[in-house]
Amino acid sequence: MSFDLVILGLGYVGLPLAQQATRVGLSVLGFDVNADVVNALGAGHSHIDDLGDADVAGMIEKGFRTTTDPAQIGLARTAVICVPTPLSEGDGPDLSAVIGATEAVGRHLQPGMLVVLESTTYPGTTDDVVRPLLELLSGLVAGRDFHLAFSPERIDPGNEKFGPQNTPKVVGGFTPACADRAEAFYGRLIDTVVRTKGTREAETAKLLENTYRHVNIALVNEMARFCHELDIDLWDVIRAASTKPFGFQAFYPGPGVGGHCIPIDPNYLSHNVRSKLGYPFRFVELAQEINATMPAYVARRAQNLLNADGQAVHGAMVLLLGVTYKANIADQRESPATPLARQLIGLGAQIAFHDPYVRSWRVGELDVPRTDDVEGAAAAADLVILVQQHREYDADHLAGISKRFFDTRGVTTTADAHKL
Ligand SMILES: NC(=O)c1ccc[n+]([C@@H]2O[C@H](COP(=O)([O-])OP(=O)(O)OC[C@H]3O[C@@H](n4cnc5c(N)ncnc54)[C@H](O)[C@@H]3O)[C@@H](O)[C@H]2O)c1
Repeated sequence: MSFDLVILGLGYVGLPLAQQATRVGLSVLGFDVNADVVNALGAGHSHIDDLGDADVAGMIEKGFRTTTDPAQIGLARTAVICVPTPLSEGDGPDLSAVIGATEAVGRHLQPGMLVVLESTTYPGTTDDVVRPLLELLSGLVAGRDFHLAFSPERIDPGNEKFGPQNTPKVVGGFTPACADRAEAFYGRLIDTVVRTKGTREAETAKLLENTYRHVNIALVNEMARFCHELDIDLWDVIRAASTKPFGFQAFYPGPGVGGHCIPIDPNYLSHNVRSKLGYPFRFVELAQEINATMPAYVARRAQNLLNADGQAVHGAMVLLLGVTYKANIADQRESPATPLARQLIGLGAQIAFHDPYVRSWRVGELDVPRTDDVEGAAAAADLVILVQQHREYDADHLAGISKRFFDTRGVTTTADAHKL
C-alpha cells in the first residue's frame, strides 16, 4: 500500500488539508499521536468546526485513512506537518510537537520524499531544527536525497468565503528544486501558489501577516479607551474611515484577542529577535501589552456601569454572551472571555454564560453555570456583556430586555446598549 500524502496532526489545519487533497483525488493518510482523534475520525466523526461528520465520511469513501503508527509514514510520497506550536513558559515557541513529528518522519523518510512544515513558527525552524533532525535520523541529505519546504498555514476557521482551495498558498523551498517540488504538490490542491526565496521568507511572511493583524487590533483597542473618555463613538469613526477606497483597512476593537494565532504567533518573532539580536521588537511587545489588558479594561467598564446605578459588582449577576474566541464557531482557545470572567469573579460578581456553540465552560476551578434561556437570563441579570457576536444573537433586542447591556463588539444600534 502507498499514499500520495501523509498529514501529521489532524486538527484545525491538518483536516481541511486532508479533505482538499482527497477531493482532488490524492490518496491521503492522516497520522496523529492522539488515539482518540484517530479513532473518532476512523469512525467518521469530526472534532473540528469546519468539517462535519458527513465530510469525514466522504473522505473515508475516497480512501482517507488514519493511523497512530509512525511506520506508515514511509508509505507516502509527501509528508506535511501540521502540529501545534504553542508558547512555552518563557514565552518562546514550544517546538516539542514539531520535533516529535519531525522525528517520526525522519525515522521513516524515504529517498525522493517531500517534507513540508506548515506549523507557524519562528524564522529558521525548517532549516535549523527540522532539516538536521531529518538528516540525522534518516541518513539522507536535504535537497539531494529528499525535498524540504515550509508552507505557512492560512486556515481561517468559520470563513465561508476562503477555504484551503482558494486561499493562495505561500511556499518556500530549502533549495530551488525543493521549491519546484513543493509548488507542484500544492498546485494540485490549491488555485494559487506563491513562491518565496527560501524557507525563512515563507516562515516570516506568516508572522508578518499575524503581526500586522495583532498590531492593528491593538491600535483600535487603545483608541477605544480614549475615545470612550472623550465621548467619541469609535465605531462610527471606523465606519467613516473605511469609506476611503485605498490605504485603509478596518480593524475593530474588542474584549481582547484570542485563538491559536494572533495572541501567540507574533511572540515567536519578538522572541526570536530578542534572543538572536538582543533588542526588542517594540511593535509586537506594545501590541501584546495593549491587547492582553483588554479583558481587565472591559471588567472595569462593567464595574463602572453598575456603579453608575449605585450597584456594586460584588454580588452582581453578570451574564456573558458568547465565550468562544471568534463568532459562529466552537473554538475556545485563548478566548478573552476567560480572563474577563476571571476578572469579574475576582471582583465578586456571580457569572453565568450563554453560548450556542459551547456546552460547558470552565474558568479556573469554576464550572461556569450555563443557561439555555438567553432571554430569561438576560432579563434577570444585573449586567449582560456581549463578548462574542454569534449570528444567533439579536443584540438590539437583547439590549432592550436587559437591565444593562455592554456591547464589546460594536454591533448594537440602540441607545439601550453601552458600547466598548
Ligand atoms: N487553527 C488555526 O486557525 C490556524 C491557522 C493558521 C495557522 N495555524 C497553525 O497551524 C498549526 C496547527 O494548528 P491546529 O490549529 O491545526 O492545531 P490542533 O490543536 O487543532 O491540531 C493539532 C493536532 O496535532 C496533533 N499532534 C500533536 N503532536 C503531534 C505529533 N508529534 N505528531 C502528530 N500529531 C501531533 C494533536 O494531537 C492534534 O490533533 C499551528 O502551528 C498553528 O499555529 C493554525
